[in-house]
Amino acid sequence: MISSKLQQGINDQITAELWSSQLYLQMSYYLKHQGWDGYSHWLRCHAEEERKHATMMADYMTDRGGMVKLQMIDVAPTGWGSVLEVYEHALSHEKMVSKMINTIVLHAIEEQDFATENFFRKFVDEQVEEEALFGGIVDKLRKAGDSGVFFLDAELATRK
Ligand SMILES: [Fe+2]
Ligand SMILES: [Fe+2]
Repeated sequence: MISSKLQQGINDQITAELWSSQLYLQMSYYLKHQGWDGYSHWLRCHAEEERKHATMMADYMTDRGGMVKLQMIDVAPTGWGSVLEVYEHALSHEKMVSKMINTIVLHAIEEQDFATENFFRKFVDEQVEEEALFGGIVDKLRKAGDSGVFFLDAELATRK
C-alpha cells in the first residue's frame, strides 16, 4: 500500500501531466491559428504524450492500492507572441515538472517505497529527454533566421 503522502504527491503529479497536456494543446491551436502547421502538429503530438504520462501514473497508483483523485485543471494562457516565446514557455514548464518528479522520488526514498522510487525514476529519465527535446527546438529557433523558422516548421510537421 502506498502512503497517503505519496498518494497526494502522485495525484498532484497526475494533475500536472494533464495540465501539461492542456497547455500544449492550447499552444498547438495558438500556433495553428497563426499558420504554423508544423510547430502546432508537434505540440499536439506532445499533448497526447502528456496525457499518456497521466494515465500511466494513475494506473500505477491503482495497482498499488492507491486512490486516484482527478483535480481541477486551470485554464491555459493564450497570450504568447512568437513561436520562440511559446517553446520557451514549454521548456520552462518542463523544468518545473522535472522538479516535481524529483520530489516524488525523494519522498519515495525517504519512505523506503522502492516500487514508487523505481516507477518514478523512469520519469526522471523521461524528463531529461523532454528538456533536451524542447531545449533543442528553443536553441534552433534562437539561431534561426526567418527562413530557418520556416524550415524547422516543415521538419516538426513530420513528427509521428
Ligand atoms: Fe510528462
Ligand atoms: Fe513533459
